Amino acid sequence: MEILVKDNYEQMSVAAAKLVARTLNAKPNAVLGLATGATPLGLYRELVRMHKDEGLDFSQVTTFNLDEYVGLTRNHPQSYHYFMHENFFKHVNIPKQNIYIPSGTTDNYAAFCQWYEQRIHECGGIDLQLLGIGSDGHIAFNEPASSLGSRTRIKTLARTTIQDNARFFDTLDQVPIYAITMGVGTILEARKILLLANGRPKAAAVAAAVEGPVTCMVTASALQLHRDVLFVVDREAAGQLKMLDYYQWIQEKMVDAP
Ligand code: F6R
Repeated sequence: MEILVKDNYEQMSVAAAKLVARTLNAKPNAVLGLATGATPLGLYRELVRMHKDEGLDFSQVTTFNLDEYVGLTRNHPQSYHYFMHENFFKHVNIPKQNIYIPSGTTDNYAAFCQWYEQRIHECGGIDLQLLGIGSDGHIAFNEPASSLGSRTRIKTLARTTIQDNARFFDTLDQVPIYAITMGVGTILEARKILLLANGRPKAAAVAAAVEGPVTCMVTASALQLHRDVLFVVDREAAGQLKMLDYYQWIQEKMVDAP
């Protein structure tokens, strides 16, 4: 695992965008795994800027989003379809037919989940998977006690996640209870993984994911089993890392650090 500590959210976002751009420069038809939530907003903003100002090209890119709330239509303002369209897709040139987001309104979830996994496979697998992390250590919506071999499926959200996400809804009871999410096993098959985290509320989860035991109680800890994972975090989210000095020492010695 590599840990890159940036001074603030802005720098974290710019570093992450550079890594995405590097991936696209090396492989213009890369398959990207995308996340929603507050964390990657700055990254999407920076990618949009790079597209507009520097000609970063997405015309051959394919994307698979991690998750979607069950029961929200694609034009519901809190759906992840809507989020992705507003914050990213409508500003860049990814062909519509190359964009995949789990359906929150299918009438056959089991078949849909199987199809989603199959599509990832048919598109050659995910080259770069972007992740955030929940305050309970979840990745995508793989809540504590999710199988570390899990595949795309429906998950019941933990109360902490529902409370964390209530900030985006008018009332707590409007937050959906179920989500359709890629599994931990699905995520671990990506060739490269980039996890972003910022702010003090994420510090305990980041420390548990990086330095704690591999456990289904912190699904991000399963990333320790992957051979190409980079955490890009701001100072606050790095606040509980015991080996922080060492990670920064490595960072100083890195010749091509973003
Ligand atoms: C979103 C997702 C979630 C979020 C996590 C952190 O697609 O998969 O795991 O990354 O809940 O959310 P924020 O960034 O809002 O703190």
